[in-house]
Amino acid sequence: MILQEDIGSIMTHKLYIETVGCQMNMLDSEMVVASLRKRGYELTDNTKDADTILFNTCSVRKHAEDKIYSALGRLRLEKNRHPHKVIGVLGCMAQKDQKLIFDKAPYVDLVVGPGQLQQVPDLIDEARNQPGQYTALSLERTAGNLESIKRSHETFDPMRDPTMRPTPFQAYLRIQIGCDKFCTYCIVPMTRGPEQGRSPDIIVDEARVLADQGCKEITLLGQTVNSYRYRDEKGETRLSDLLLRLHDIEGIERLKFVTSYPKDMTDDLLQVIRDMPKLSKYLHVPAQSGSNEVLKRMKRGYTVEDYREMMSRIRETIPGAAVSSDFIVGFCGETEEEFQLTCELVEECRFKNSFIFKYSERPGTKSETRMIDDIPDDIKKRRNNELLAIQNRISEEDNHPFLGETVQVLVEGPSKLGAKNDTGQDVLQLTGRTQCDRIVVFEGNRRQIGQMLAVGIYEVTPFTLMGTVLTEHVQGDVLQIGL
Ligand code: SAH
Ligand code: SF4
Ligand code: F3S
Repeated sequence: MILQEDIGSIMTHKLYIETVGCQMNMLDSEMVVASLRKRGYELTDNTKDADTILFNTCSVRKHAEDKIYSALGRLRLEKNRHPHKVIGVLGCMAQKDQKLIFDKAPYVDLVVGPGQLQQVPDLIDEARNQPGQYTALSLERTAGNLESIKRSHETFDPMRDPTMRPTPFQAYLRIQIGCDKFCTYCIVPMTRGPEQGRSPDIIVDEARVLADQGCKEITLLGQTVNSYRYRDEKGETRLSDLLLRLHDIEGIERLKFVTSYPKDMTDDLLQVIRDMPKLSKYLHVPAQSGSNEVLKRMKRGYTVEDYREMMSRIRETIPGAAVSSDFIVGFCGETEEEFQLTCELVEECRFKNSFIFKYSERPGTKSETRMIDDIPDDIKKRRNNELLAIQNRISEEDNHPFLGETVQVLVEGPSKLGAKNDTGQDVLQLTGRTQCDRIVVFEGNRRQIGQMLAVGIYEVTPFTLMGTVLTEHVQGDVLQIGL
């Protein structure tokens, strides 16, 4: 006789999943894992134990792709030995490279683009029952009719399983898919398709479910999230309108959104951030370069003067707000003078932090077909280090005013920074973020994870504020000190 528990264990599949890329990919993986758990899959962190191996990939820089192709290379032998294992490549590289993935790694079973992820569970079953090379991809942007291209890029946002989130009290929520900006260096409009806002009613419903599950912090996701617009018979909803609706949800304590596009940083949005207490006083608005000539070649659609004007509106409207940025160094034809203008912009804007990338030529983009990737790698590297040094100095300087202050921290979990007490015993270091997205590390205990605590800061580095918990009963007056 077979007992119910035995059926459970016979049915259990072991899933290994590796995710690279942006928060959008993290969320996609979460959704894929949740849908597979419903079919009896359990996670493993070892490809050897897994019967299903998935890579959720990124194409934004060559390095991200190389990493996945090498990981696939390492699986060749394993698949030879265990042909029943299903190997799938999902996400942006799947959409971009399509059948090329089978040419490079013929033992891959599935290639599934980010717009087709809802098909993953069925495709895995099919591949297991009938070995072969399966693809599920969205239409390319030149494939004709815009409506059918849009339809082929579906969002995959089933209601979720609370156990799948990185922490039970934090969640990503997609409000927009795709991108229509077509910066000349960028592959994202090709891999993620046309910009489409999700319905505000669906977003609010999802946020309510998250709040009911104990979620306290929601980060809204979109490639140009502040360009969000949704039109229906009731009228137009902008990001500021959506934030006001989400702000009303009981249980939600913090709201953030990434990534913003400089040209769409409208005053209504800044005012909502200023006026609504649950909104994180933090904006991620990539500048990419401080040179108008480079911005023109990148087709970013704004000038350095526009960016400065936006920064001064942010500083005037939301005093104390933290702003972070992205920069690409060594873009096609970037002269030393043009790079210096980027350094000057970083000096002037005093970002909380910046993500700095060496330009990586992406096949199929305008900069690949029309420009020359003419800056040698050692120069790109040097410019990257130089800009990073300026940014790190500024980050440290701007963390200094927090010394002696009290900040309100949503505790995320154990910190990677271990510590010992005076008697040499390990103590638990916790990490969390302030309302302006600064990372705080302090000694604590597990039961504080997920709580909003007042922490006094006694030491700062460029990346971290070190502190001590002041009180567990957060009082109104304590909350007002610092951002
Ligand atoms: N949608 C977001 C970010 C998309 S990709 C935005 O527009 O801001 C994240 C970052 O990767 C970009 O901001 C850019 O700085 C960098 N990036 C994109 N394409 C790149 C390329 N070809 N080479 C190097 N960095 C790139
Ligand atoms: Fe890429 Fe530009 Fe769109 Fe950002 S705005 S995703 S950099 S095309
Ligand atoms: Fe990469 Fe795709 Fe995100 S290319 S950065 S995973 S949208």
